[in-house]
Amino acid sequence: MLGIIGGSGLAQFPGLTIERREVVRTPYGAPSAALVFGRLADAPVVFLARHGHGHTLPPHRINYRANLWALQQAGVDQVLAIATVGGIHADFLPGMFAVPDQVIDYTWGREMTYAEYGGDAPVVHLDFSHPYCHELRAQCLSALATVGERFLPTGTYGATQGPRLETPAEVERMARDGVDMVGMTGMPEAYLAHELGLCYATIAASVNWAAGRNGQDAISMDAITTVQTDLVARLPTVLAEIIRQVA
Ligand code: HPA
Repeated sequence: MLGIIGGSGLAQFPGLTIERREVVRTPYGAPSAALVFGRLADAPVVFLARHGHGHTLPPHRINYRANLWALQQAGVDQVLAIATVGGIHADFLPGMFAVPDQVIDYTWGREMTYAEYGGDAPVVHLDFSHPYCHELRAQCLSALATVGERFLPTGTYGATQGPRLETPAEVERMARDGVDMVGMTGMPEAYLAHELGLCYATIAASVNWAAGRNGQDAISMDAITTVQTDLVARLPTVLAEIIRQVA
């Protein structure tokens, strides 16, 4: 079954039939919100609002371990993560989607593994050469092309700590690192999914140029809201097509 991690607004979009909500607990604590079970494009899906139903959880307070654990317990084996980002790559304009294939983790102090050491179990270093699931990425790319979206087909996602936006100097450094898009929630989410053996891919939606890019002096929150509203309106069509591809 497909699990979708996204903003709370996503649980209400057209085409989604909500069947039930389930409050779950995990050994790692409570997920961000109740799991929403429903049907989209005739397929069963589970939604999880990453920032909580009232969008009250900042990126560094999200219980990523509980979120992915809860989804897996609910029978999810593929996770589609929806994430808004700032664009760094010159071709990644606000209002476009991207399907990243690599990640750089700039976050700190987050619970980033299920492997809690200290007992007798030997330390495991898990391969993370492919942070995103090849099959689900391919389905996302095919779906975006089918519905006629302009998108960046690959790219490196840089995960920052937030909740503040970056300085232009930080973004400049990230660009030198090879980062194409910057967001605050991509890690440890992608790695925890990997540890659990879930097939995980991200659809990134650019809501602004990252700080200092494209000659901008400052990031306008009003402009972000406008772009985001437009992206959210286009998302149901994209998601329905992804679900068709997955089915
Ligand atoms: N930086 C980090 N996260 C973001 C941004 C940004 O510019 N835009 C949306 N999420």
